[in-house]
Amino acid sequence: MTSRRPSLAVVGATGTVGRVLLGLLSTRADVWGEVRLIASPRSAGQRLTVRGAETEVLALSEEAFTGIDLAVFDVPAPVAAQWAPIAAAKGVVVIDNSAAFAGQEDVPLVVPELNAPAARIRPRGVIASPGSATLTAILALGALHAEYGLRALVLASYQAASAERRAGAETLRAQLAQVAGGHAGEQTGDLRAVVTDNGPFPAPLALNTVPWVGAAAEGGWSSEELRLRAETRRVLGLPDLAVSATCVRVPVLTGHSMAVHAVFEREVEQHRAREILRDAPGVVLYDDPAAGEYPTPNDVVGTDPVWAGRLRRALDDPCALDLFLCGDNLRKGAALNLVQIAELVAAELR
Ligand SMILES: NC(=O)c1ccc[n+]([C@@H]2O[C@H](COP(=O)([O-])OP(=O)(O)OC[C@H]3O[C@@H](n4cnc5c(N)ncnc54)[C@H](OP(=O)(O)O)[C@@H]3O)[C@@H](O)[C@H]2O)c1
Repeated sequence: MTSRRPSLAVVGATGTVGRVLLGLLSTRADVWGEVRLIASPRSAGQRLTVRGAETEVLALSEEAFTGIDLAVFDVPAPVAAQWAPIAAAKGVVVIDNSAAFAGQEDVPLVVPELNAPAARIRPRGVIASPGSATLTAILALGALHAEYGLRALVLASYQAASAERRAGAETLRAQLAQVAGGHAGEQTGDLRAVVTDNGPFPAPLALNTVPWVGAAAEGGWSSEELRLRAETRRVLGLPDLAVSATCVRVPVLTGHSMAVHAVFEREVEQHRAREILRDAPGVVLYDDPAAGEYPTPNDVVGTDPVWAGRLRRALDDPCALDLFLCGDNLRKGAALNLVQIAELVAAELR
Protein backbone atom coordinates (compact mmCIF):
# COMPACT_ATOMS: atom_id res chain seq x y z
CA MET A 1 0.00 0.00 0.00
CA THR A 2 1.22 3.47 -0.81
CA SER A 3 -0.22 6.89 -0.07
CA ARG A 4 1.31 8.46 -3.16
CA ARG A 5 -0.58 8.56 -6.41
CA PRO A 6 0.42 5.73 -8.74
CA SER A 7 2.42 6.53 -11.85
CA LEU A 8 1.12 5.50 -15.26
CA ALA A 9 2.92 4.81 -18.52
CA VAL A 10 1.00 5.01 -21.79
CA VAL A 11 2.85 2.76 -24.24
CA GLY A 12 1.77 3.62 -27.78
CA ALA A 13 0.79 7.15 -26.76
CA THR A 14 1.17 8.45 -30.33
CA GLY A 15 -1.22 5.90 -31.86
CA THR A 16 -4.92 5.96 -32.68
CA VAL A 17 -6.00 4.47 -29.34
CA GLY A 18 -3.17 6.15 -27.41
CA ARG A 19 -4.28 9.65 -28.41
CA VAL A 20 -7.89 8.96 -27.41
CA LEU A 21 -6.60 7.59 -24.11
CA LEU A 22 -4.64 10.79 -23.45
CA GLY A 23 -7.86 12.73 -24.03
CA LEU A 24 -9.68 10.52 -21.50
CA LEU A 25 -6.95 11.04 -18.90
CA SER A 26 -7.47 14.77 -19.30
CA THR A 27 -11.20 14.58 -18.64
CA ARG A 28 -11.63 11.89 -15.98
CA ALA A 29 -10.98 12.24 -12.25
CA ASP A 30 -7.20 12.56 -11.97
CA VAL A 31 -5.93 9.68 -9.86
CA TRP A 32 -2.44 9.63 -11.31
CA GLY A 33 0.95 10.87 -10.22
CA GLU A 34 3.35 11.00 -13.17
CA VAL A 35 1.92 10.09 -16.59
CA ARG A 36 4.76 8.96 -18.84
CA LEU A 37 4.35 8.72 -22.60
CA ILE A 38 6.14 6.00 -24.56
CA ALA A 39 6.15 5.04 -28.25
CA SER A 40 8.57 3.72 -30.84
CA PRO A 41 11.99 5.37 -31.31
CA ARG A 42 10.43 7.11 -34.35
CA SER A 43 8.38 9.29 -32.02
CA ALA A 44 10.95 9.94 -29.28
CA GLY A 45 11.14 13.66 -28.49
CA GLN A 46 7.65 14.43 -29.82
CA ARG A 47 5.54 16.42 -27.37
CA LEU A 48 1.89 15.54 -26.68
CA THR A 49 -0.56 17.20 -24.32
CA VAL A 50 -1.96 15.21 -21.42
CA ARG A 51 -3.82 16.69 -18.44
CA GLY A 52 -3.09 20.13 -19.89
CA ALA A 53 0.69 19.66 -19.85
CA GLU A 54 2.99 19.15 -22.82
CA THR A 55 4.82 15.90 -22.20
CA GLU A 56 7.77 14.46 -24.09
CA VAL A 57 7.43 11.02 -25.66
CA LEU A 58 10.14 8.51 -24.71
CA ALA A 59 11.34 5.59 -26.81
CA LEU A 60 10.24 2.17 -25.55
CA SER A 61 13.03 0.64 -23.45
CA GLU A 62 13.41 -1.24 -20.18
CA GLU A 63 14.57 1.95 -18.44
CA ALA A 64 11.42 3.77 -19.54
CA PHE A 65 9.48 1.67 -16.98
CA THR A 66 11.64 2.65 -14.00
CA GLY A 67 9.44 4.15 -11.27
CA ILE A 68 6.21 3.21 -13.07
CA ASP A 69 3.37 1.42 -11.22
CA LEU A 70 1.00 0.71 -14.12
CA ALA A 71 1.39 0.67 -17.90
CA VAL A 72 -1.34 0.58 -20.51
CA PHE A 73 -0.12 -0.95 -23.76
CA ASP A 74 -1.68 0.34 -27.02
CA VAL A 75 0.81 -1.17 -29.43
CA PRO A 76 0.76 -3.95 -32.06
CA ALA A 77 0.45 -7.45 -30.57
CA PRO A 78 4.06 -8.55 -31.30
CA VAL A 79 5.38 -5.44 -29.52
CA ALA A 80 3.11 -6.11 -26.53
CA ALA A 81 4.13 -9.79 -26.46
CA GLN A 82 7.80 -8.79 -26.29
CA TRP A 83 7.61 -5.82 -23.90
CA ALA A 84 4.77 -6.57 -21.45
CA PRO A 85 6.80 -9.32 -19.68
CA ILE A 86 9.80 -6.95 -19.47
CA ALA A 87 7.67 -4.28 -17.78
CA ALA A 88 5.96 -6.87 -15.55
CA ALA A 89 9.35 -8.19 -14.44
CA LYS A 90 10.07 -4.68 -13.13
CA GLY A 91 6.92 -4.83 -10.98
CA VAL A 92 4.74 -2.82 -13.37
CA VAL A 93 1.09 -3.91 -13.69
CA VAL A 94 0.51 -4.12 -17.45
CA ILE A 95 -2.91 -3.63 -19.04
CA ASP A 96 -2.78 -4.75 -22.65
CA ASN A 97 -5.12 -3.76 -25.45
CA SER A 98 -3.75 -6.08 -28.13
CA ALA A 99 -4.65 -9.68 -28.86
CA ALA A 100 -1.26 -10.86 -27.46
CA PHE A 101 -2.55 -12.04 -24.06
CA ALA A 102 -6.34 -11.92 -24.45
CA GLY A 103 -6.66 -15.66 -25.01
CA GLN A 104 -4.32 -16.80 -22.24
CA GLU A 105 -5.89 -18.48 -19.20
CA ASP A 106 -3.43 -17.03 -16.68
CA VAL A 107 -4.11 -13.47 -17.85
CA PRO A 108 -7.42 -12.02 -16.64
CA LEU A 109 -9.68 -10.56 -19.33
CA VAL A 110 -11.51 -7.66 -17.76
CA VAL A 111 -14.56 -5.50 -18.44
CA PRO A 112 -14.93 -3.50 -15.21
CA GLU A 113 -18.74 -3.25 -15.33
CA LEU A 114 -18.99 -7.06 -15.50
CA ASN A 115 -16.02 -8.80 -13.87
CA ALA A 116 -13.96 -6.22 -11.97
CA PRO A 117 -12.76 -8.71 -9.28
CA ALA A 118 -10.93 -10.68 -12.01
CA ALA A 119 -8.42 -7.81 -12.29
CA ARG A 120 -7.05 -8.64 -8.81
CA ILE A 121 -5.75 -12.07 -9.81
CA ARG A 122 -2.93 -11.53 -12.29
CA PRO A 123 -0.19 -14.13 -11.85
CA ARG A 124 1.86 -12.74 -14.74
CA GLY A 125 1.37 -9.09 -13.78
CA VAL A 126 -0.66 -8.61 -16.98
CA ILE A 127 -4.36 -7.86 -17.47
CA ALA A 128 -5.92 -8.04 -20.94
CA SER A 129 -8.73 -5.92 -22.35
CA PRO A 130 -11.06 -7.61 -24.87
CA GLY A 131 -11.15 -6.66 -28.55
CA SER A 132 -13.32 -3.82 -29.78
CA ALA A 133 -16.00 -6.11 -31.28
CA THR A 134 -16.44 -7.93 -27.96
CA LEU A 135 -16.64 -4.62 -26.10
CA THR A 136 -19.37 -3.39 -28.47
CA ALA A 137 -21.66 -6.26 -27.46
CA ILE A 138 -20.70 -7.34 -23.97
CA LEU A 139 -22.29 -4.69 -21.72
CA ALA A 140 -25.80 -5.12 -23.13
CA LEU A 141 -25.43 -8.89 -23.29
CA GLY A 142 -24.12 -9.06 -19.71
CA ALA A 143 -27.09 -7.10 -18.38
CA LEU A 144 -29.62 -9.25 -20.25
CA HIS A 145 -27.80 -12.43 -19.24
CA ALA A 146 -28.05 -11.49 -15.53
CA GLU A 147 -31.85 -11.48 -15.82
CA TYR A 148 -32.64 -14.17 -18.37
CA GLY A 149 -29.60 -16.51 -18.63
CA LEU A 150 -27.92 -16.41 -22.03
CA ARG A 151 -28.02 -19.64 -24.04
CA ALA A 152 -26.96 -18.77 -27.60
CA LEU A 153 -25.88 -15.83 -29.73
CA VAL A 154 -25.92 -15.11 -33.44
CA LEU A 155 -23.90 -11.96 -34.10
CA ALA A 156 -23.13 -9.92 -37.21
CA SER A 157 -20.64 -7.09 -36.76
CA TYR A 158 -20.20 -3.96 -38.87
CA GLN A 159 -16.66 -2.90 -37.96
CA ALA A 160 -15.01 0.46 -38.57
CA ALA A 161 -11.78 1.08 -40.45
CA SER A 162 -9.99 2.77 -37.52
CA ALA A 163 -9.96 -0.55 -35.66
CA GLU A 164 -7.35 -1.62 -38.22
CA ARG A 165 -5.03 0.91 -36.60
CA ARG A 166 -3.60 4.03 -38.24
CA ALA A 167 -3.28 2.31 -41.62
CA GLY A 168 -6.99 1.38 -41.61
CA ALA A 169 -8.29 4.93 -41.24
CA GLU A 170 -5.68 6.31 -43.65
CA THR A 171 -6.60 3.72 -46.28
CA LEU A 172 -10.33 4.43 -46.06
CA ARG A 173 -9.76 8.21 -46.30
CA ALA A 174 -7.52 7.75 -49.37
CA GLN A 175 -10.02 5.41 -51.04
CA LEU A 176 -12.92 7.79 -50.36
CA ALA A 177 -10.96 10.58 -52.08
CA GLN A 178 -10.26 8.26 -55.02
CA VAL A 179 -13.87 7.16 -55.49
CA ALA A 180 -15.14 10.73 -55.10
CA GLY A 181 -12.85 11.94 -57.87
CA GLY A 182 -12.92 8.87 -60.08
CA HIS A 183 -15.44 7.02 -62.19
CA ALA A 184 -16.52 4.26 -59.83
CA GLY A 185 -18.50 2.60 -62.62
CA GLU A 186 -21.32 5.14 -62.87
CA GLN A 187 -23.93 2.42 -63.34
CA THR A 188 -22.34 -0.49 -61.54
CA GLY A 189 -20.21 1.07 -58.80
CA ASP A 190 -17.26 -1.10 -59.84
CA LEU A 191 -14.34 0.14 -57.72
CA ARG A 192 -11.53 -1.74 -59.41
CA ALA A 193 -10.71 1.05 -61.83
CA VAL A 194 -10.24 3.71 -59.16
CA VAL A 195 -9.07 2.12 -55.91
CA THR A 196 -5.33 1.58 -56.15
CA ASP A 197 -4.45 0.31 -52.65
CA ASN A 198 -6.45 -1.93 -50.32
CA GLY A 199 -4.11 -1.17 -47.40
CA PRO A 200 -4.73 -3.58 -44.51
CA PHE A 201 -8.08 -4.74 -45.98
CA PRO A 202 -8.49 -7.72 -48.32
CA ALA A 203 -10.68 -5.74 -50.77
CA PRO A 204 -11.62 -2.10 -51.48
CA LEU A 205 -13.53 -0.70 -48.50
CA ALA A 206 -14.89 2.63 -49.76
CA LEU A 207 -18.44 2.09 -51.11
CA ASN A 208 -18.14 -1.59 -50.22
CA THR A 209 -18.58 -4.12 -47.39
CA VAL A 210 -15.97 -6.79 -46.73
CA PRO A 211 -17.05 -9.95 -44.88
CA TRP A 212 -13.62 -10.56 -43.40
CA VAL A 213 -11.84 -9.23 -40.29
CA GLY A 214 -8.60 -10.75 -39.01
CA ALA A 215 -6.65 -13.79 -40.14
CA ALA A 216 -7.79 -17.14 -41.51
CA ALA A 217 -8.65 -19.75 -38.90
CA GLU A 218 -9.84 -23.34 -39.15
CA GLY A 219 -13.14 -24.25 -40.77
CA GLY A 220 -13.47 -20.99 -42.73
CA TRP A 221 -13.81 -18.83 -39.62
CA SER A 222 -11.82 -15.62 -39.18
CA SER A 223 -9.65 -15.00 -36.10
CA GLU A 224 -11.88 -12.03 -35.19
CA GLU A 225 -14.99 -14.26 -35.18
CA LEU A 226 -13.31 -16.82 -32.95
CA ARG A 227 -11.98 -14.10 -30.67
CA LEU A 228 -15.43 -12.56 -30.28
CA ARG A 229 -16.81 -15.99 -29.34
CA ALA A 230 -14.01 -16.88 -26.91
CA GLU A 231 -13.95 -13.48 -25.20
CA THR A 232 -17.73 -13.30 -24.79
CA ARG A 233 -17.75 -16.76 -23.21
CA ARG A 234 -14.89 -15.88 -20.90
CA VAL A 235 -16.06 -12.48 -19.66
CA LEU A 236 -19.60 -13.76 -19.05
CA GLY A 237 -18.29 -16.96 -17.41
CA LEU A 238 -20.21 -19.14 -19.89
CA PRO A 239 -17.66 -21.58 -21.35
CA ASP A 240 -20.33 -23.50 -23.30
CA LEU A 241 -22.25 -20.53 -24.71
CA ALA A 242 -23.21 -21.17 -28.35
CA VAL A 243 -21.87 -18.28 -30.44
CA SER A 244 -21.96 -17.87 -34.21
CA ALA A 245 -20.43 -14.63 -35.43
CA THR A 246 -19.89 -13.07 -38.84
CA CYS A 247 -17.49 -10.12 -38.72
CA VAL A 248 -17.81 -7.58 -41.52
CA ARG A 249 -15.72 -4.48 -42.24
CA VAL A 250 -17.74 -1.46 -43.37
CA PRO A 251 -16.66 1.94 -44.77
CA VAL A 252 -17.13 3.77 -41.46
CA LEU A 253 -14.13 5.57 -39.99
CA THR A 254 -14.98 5.08 -36.30
CA GLY A 255 -17.84 3.26 -34.56
CA HIS A 256 -18.58 -0.45 -34.56
CA SER A 257 -22.12 -1.82 -34.86
CA MET A 258 -23.46 -5.27 -34.06
CA ALA A 259 -26.72 -7.01 -35.00
CA VAL A 260 -27.53 -9.46 -32.21
CA HIS A 261 -29.90 -12.42 -31.98
CA ALA A 262 -29.73 -13.58 -28.36
CA VAL A 263 -31.48 -16.72 -27.07
CA PHE A 264 -32.12 -17.03 -23.33
CA GLU A 265 -33.04 -19.76 -20.85
CA ARG A 266 -36.22 -17.94 -19.86
CA GLU A 267 -38.99 -16.21 -21.73
CA VAL A 268 -38.31 -12.51 -22.33
CA GLU A 269 -40.64 -9.52 -22.19
CA GLN A 270 -39.86 -6.59 -24.40
CA HIS A 271 -40.74 -3.88 -21.89
CA ARG A 272 -38.64 -5.53 -19.15
CA ALA A 273 -35.72 -6.00 -21.55
CA ARG A 274 -35.95 -2.28 -22.33
CA GLU A 275 -35.75 -1.47 -18.61
CA ILE A 276 -32.72 -3.71 -18.21
CA LEU A 277 -30.87 -2.02 -21.06
CA ARG A 278 -31.92 1.44 -19.88
CA ASP A 279 -30.46 0.73 -16.43
CA ALA A 280 -27.35 -1.22 -17.54
CA PRO A 281 -24.05 0.50 -16.63
CA GLY A 282 -22.36 1.91 -19.73
CA VAL A 283 -25.41 1.37 -22.00
CA VAL A 284 -27.75 3.98 -23.46
CA LEU A 285 -31.10 2.80 -24.79
CA TYR A 286 -31.94 4.81 -27.90
CA ASP A 287 -34.90 3.04 -29.36
CA ASP A 288 -37.91 4.75 -30.86
CA PRO A 289 -37.92 3.70 -34.51
CA ALA A 290 -41.24 5.45 -35.18
CA ALA A 291 -39.49 8.71 -34.29
CA GLY A 292 -36.39 7.73 -36.30
CA GLU A 293 -34.43 6.93 -33.13
CA TYR A 294 -31.95 4.08 -33.32
CA PRO A 295 -28.18 4.23 -32.93
CA THR A 296 -25.82 4.64 -35.87
CA PRO A 297 -22.01 4.81 -35.70
CA ASN A 298 -22.24 8.51 -36.44
CA ASP A 299 -24.40 9.07 -33.35
CA VAL A 300 -21.98 7.33 -31.03
CA VAL A 301 -18.56 8.46 -32.26
CA GLY A 302 -16.74 10.32 -29.48
CA THR A 303 -19.08 9.03 -26.75
CA ASP A 304 -18.28 6.66 -23.91
CA PRO A 305 -21.32 4.33 -23.69
CA VAL A 306 -22.53 1.58 -25.96
CA TRP A 307 -25.87 2.43 -27.53
CA ALA A 308 -28.71 -0.08 -27.92
CA GLY A 309 -31.75 0.10 -30.18
CA ARG A 310 -34.07 -1.86 -32.47
CA LEU A 311 -34.97 -4.09 -29.52
CA ARG A 312 -37.51 -6.72 -30.54
CA ARG A 313 -38.73 -10.01 -29.13
CA ALA A 314 -38.11 -12.63 -31.79
CA LEU A 315 -41.28 -13.48 -33.70
CA ASP A 316 -40.63 -17.21 -33.63
CA ASP A 317 -39.07 -17.69 -30.20
CA PRO A 318 -40.42 -16.16 -26.96
CA CYS A 319 -36.99 -16.73 -25.37
CA ALA A 320 -35.07 -14.65 -27.93
CA LEU A 321 -34.35 -10.96 -28.51
CA ASP A 322 -33.05 -9.13 -31.56
CA LEU A 323 -31.25 -5.82 -31.14
CA PHE A 324 -28.71 -3.46 -32.68
CA LEU A 325 -25.72 -2.05 -30.80
CA CYS A 326 -23.25 0.71 -31.62
CA GLY A 327 -20.11 1.78 -29.76
CA ASP A 328 -17.03 3.90 -30.41
CA ASN A 329 -14.29 1.33 -31.03
CA LEU A 330 -11.66 3.79 -29.80
CA ARG A 331 -13.46 4.56 -26.51
CA LYS A 332 -15.34 1.68 -24.79
CA GLY A 333 -13.93 -0.54 -27.55
CA ALA A 334 -10.37 0.31 -26.51
CA ALA A 335 -9.09 3.35 -24.57
CA LEU A 336 -11.97 3.71 -22.11
CA ASN A 337 -11.94 0.06 -21.04
CA LEU A 338 -8.16 0.32 -20.49
CA VAL A 339 -8.52 3.47 -18.39
CA GLN A 340 -11.32 1.90 -16.35
CA ILE A 341 -9.14 -1.16 -15.63
CA ALA A 342 -6.19 1.09 -14.78
CA GLU A 343 -8.37 3.06 -12.34
CA LEU A 344 -9.46 -0.21 -10.68
CA VAL A 345 -5.84 -1.23 -10.15
CA ALA A 346 -4.89 2.28 -9.01
CA ALA A 347 -7.59 2.13 -6.32
CA GLU A 348 -6.18 -1.21 -5.20
CA LEU A 349 -2.61 0.14 -5.02
CA ARG A 350 -3.44 3.31 -3.10
N1 LIG B 1 -7.93 0.95 -33.10
C1 LIG B 1 -8.85 0.27 -32.41
O1 LIG B 1 -10.06 0.47 -32.54
C2 LIG B 1 -8.42 -0.79 -31.42
C3 LIG B 1 -9.38 -1.34 -30.60
C4 LIG B 1 -9.01 -2.33 -29.69
C5 LIG B 1 -7.69 -2.75 -29.66
N2 LIG B 1 -6.78 -2.18 -30.47
C6 LIG B 1 -5.38 -2.63 -30.36
O2 LIG B 1 -4.63 -1.59 -29.73
C7 LIG B 1 -3.29 -1.60 -30.24
C8 LIG B 1 -2.96 -0.21 -30.78
O3 LIG B 1 -3.85 0.08 -31.86
P1 LIG B 1 -3.88 1.50 -32.57
O4 LIG B 1 -5.09 1.48 -33.41
O5 LIG B 1 -3.69 2.62 -31.60
O6 LIG B 1 -2.55 1.40 -33.51
P2 LIG B 1 -1.72 2.57 -34.23
O7 LIG B 1 -2.57 3.74 -34.49
O8 LIG B 1 -1.04 1.93 -35.39
O9 LIG B 1 -0.63 3.00 -33.13
C9 LIG B 1 0.35 2.07 -32.74
C10 LIG B 1 1.16 2.63 -31.58
O10 LIG B 1 2.15 1.67 -31.26
C11 LIG B 1 3.44 2.28 -31.33
N3 LIG B 1 4.42 1.30 -31.80
C12 LIG B 1 4.41 0.61 -32.97
N4 LIG B 1 5.51 -0.17 -33.05
C13 LIG B 1 6.22 0.04 -31.91
C14 LIG B 1 7.45 -0.44 -31.41
N5 LIG B 1 8.18 -1.35 -32.09
N6 LIG B 1 7.89 -0.01 -30.20
C15 LIG B 1 7.17 0.90 -29.51
N7 LIG B 1 5.99 1.41 -29.92
C16 LIG B 1 5.53 0.98 -31.12
C17 LIG B 1 3.28 3.41 -32.30
O11 LIG B 1 4.32 4.35 -32.09
P3 LIG B 1 4.85 5.31 -33.29
O12 LIG B 1 3.79 6.37 -33.44
O13 LIG B 1 6.12 5.82 -32.74
O14 LIG B 1 4.98 4.45 -34.49
C18 LIG B 1 1.90 3.94 -31.92
O15 LIG B 1 1.99 4.74 -30.77
C19 LIG B 1 -3.24 -2.70 -31.28
O16 LIG B 1 -2.76 -3.90 -30.69
C20 LIG B 1 -4.68 -2.86 -31.69
O17 LIG B 1 -4.97 -4.16 -32.19
C21 LIG B 1 -7.09 -1.20 -31.34
